[in-house]
Amino acid sequence: MNTHAHDGSPRGLFISFEGIDGSGKSTQVKLLAERFPDAVLTREPGGSAGAEEIRALLLTGDPDRWSAETEILLFTAARRDHLEKTIRPALAAGKTVICDRFADSTRVYQGATRGALRSTVDALHDVMIGQEPDLTFIIDMDPEAALTRGLARKSGEDRFEDMGLAFQETLRHGFLSLAKANPQRCVLIDGNRDPQAIAAEIAAHVADRSANVSEGA
Ligand code: ADP
Ligand code: TYD
Repeated sequence: MNTHAHDGSPRGLFISFEGIDGSGKSTQVKLLAERFPDAVLTREPGGSAGAEEIRALLLTGDPDRWSAETEILLFTAARRDHLEKTIRPALAAGKTVICDRFADSTRVYQGATRGALRSTVDALHDVMIGQEPDLTFIIDMDPEAALTRGLARKSGEDRFEDMGLAFQETLRHGFLSLAKANPQRCVLIDGNRDPQAIAAEIAAHVADRSANVSEGA
């Protein structure tokens, strides 16, 4: 599963999963990784030692702990470290990277929920990140069902889930707009089905994309 770098050498495929909390991303990341055992499986916020430390600052504590602007900076700092230490080296080595959340989460969670900060998110992304996945699966589902699933886990990292149902509804619409605006990269997946059926649909899309890449499409 390769695409090509500017110098023509093979580069791995970069796949991300997005969606509201409890939509089934982590479950699908694991099921896809079972089908592609050589892939690097990673997540945000986190995925490198430094970014995992920033994760703890972001996901625990009072929902009002950070201003929206500070939060954007922390997520972007974590992403930059993750890119430098984990994602870019893996892609350069020709490996597929499967990432549980990436920049679309910042666009939606920080850019569309607490004021009009999307242009700030986009500007910071351009300067500090400048990379998009080749393929993004956006798992869509009813926020009420997803919230029940998510809170049942009691992970202790529920700062965003604690923000409630109306917040999750706003997020869902944010992800649906992103999918519509980026049809080449984003595939919308109905998350309200049996996990194995969802996994089969996702694997078919990945196989399709890999075939197109190797044909140079
Ligand atoms: P996310 O990473 O999007 O927050 P998870 O994959 O952790 O979601 O799933 C949240 C909860 O819902 C977990 O307890 C998981 O076992 C369960 N779950 C995941 N996918 C499905 C599905 N398709 N149907 C029913 N339950 C699911
Ligand atoms: P995650 O561990 O994927 O949570 P979940 O399994 O509940 O979906 O992500 C942690 C939280 O961080 C999640 O509520 C979404 C939030 N988040 C942002 O607000 N912005 C971001 O850029 C990222 C990557 C995550």
